[in-house]
Amino acid sequence: MSFSAFSTRQHGCPRIFTGWAEQRRSLTATLSTNRRDDVPIYDRLVQPDDYRRSSLETWGAMACGWERWRAEIEATSAPIRDWMLKSLALEPGDTVLELAAGPGDTGFSAAAIVGETGRLISTDFSPDMVEVARRRSAELGLGNVEHRIMNAEHMELEDDSVDGVLCRFGFMLMADAAAALSETRRVLRPGGRLALAVWCSAERNPWISIAGRMLVERGHVPAPEPGSPGMFTMANAERTRRLLEDAGFADVRTKEVPVRFTYRSLDEYVHRARDTGGVFSKAFAEADDDERAALEAELGTRFAPFAAGSCYEFPGVALAVIAD
Ligand SMILES: C[S@@+](CC[C@H](N)C(=O)[O-])C[C@H]1O[C@@H](n2cnc3c(N)ncnc32)[C@H](O)[C@@H]1O
Repeated sequence: MSFSAFSTRQHGCPRIFTGWAEQRRSLTATLSTNRRDDVPIYDRLVQPDDYRRSSLETWGAMACGWERWRAEIEATSAPIRDWMLKSLALEPGDTVLELAAGPGDTGFSAAAIVGETGRLISTDFSPDMVEVARRRSAELGLGNVEHRIMNAEHMELEDDSVDGVLCRFGFMLMADAAAALSETRRVLRPGGRLALAVWCSAERNPWISIAGRMLVERGHVPAPEPGSPGMFTMANAERTRRLLEDAGFADVRTKEVPVRFTYRSLDEYVHRARDTGGVFSKAFAEADDDERAALEAELGTRFAPFAAGSCYEFPGVALAVIAD
């Protein structure tokens, strides 16, 4: 089943792909003209265009779930957002760019710092995600935000045109993170800084890796290939530092930021994971009723060490980076 053949409608989302098919076709065409099929992604060769297409569809399908769970995601990620903003040290009047912004909250906090004389360019390659961010900035009443559909691997921005760049949990998911980092360096003015966050290793992020391992072990998804884009691809601080240095960043500092994921029940975990996690959502959509029940029961068993009363509490650790 192709990814576009299912939707999250069973959780009350509207039809996903209506209204922007044309926009998506043109974006996909743009991505295709940037073909770099021979680009090594860290250790191995991937098919970048195939990956980009399916990633774009996945994120389009997940946008409504990210909007639904925005407050919970933001509450968990707040320590990471705060470290990134503090390290970026923006000033009133600055122009700040957010890449892979999703619902956009990291950038919206930056918009408040740069103020009316400054500007936030909030971007994501998924038109649906950009709409989610647009609704959120309107809700917040922000007047200094420009929303753009933009693939971070190929930015339609002038050289030396921004003072700071934010990217939380984006680079590791891109087909060509090295290209996106070079583009970031290109659009940053001399002395401008990048603040990014990626996830540390699977072992240190059981909130997601336990479920992922279960889906692999039960044959729902293939094991992730080492080095291909994914949640933990940039977990190694030294390799991430080298990627940034290769992209032209001279001074790279890293910091591990711990977070805590709280779920009110197993049911909430499953709903949230189905609404926001492409792989999880696809596996559950394709499983029959018996297998879905078996998956939930097995999750309950595997999560037992993290039970806290009727809730579940998981640790997580992000690798945050500031570079200039
Ligand atoms: C894990 S979400 C993170 C969203 C947000 N930054 C946050 O921290 O809440 C990843 C986001 O990256 C976007 N994305 C993935 N690949 C991208 C690319 N090549 N260019 C721009 N955005 C991309 C997805 O559409 C999605 O919104």
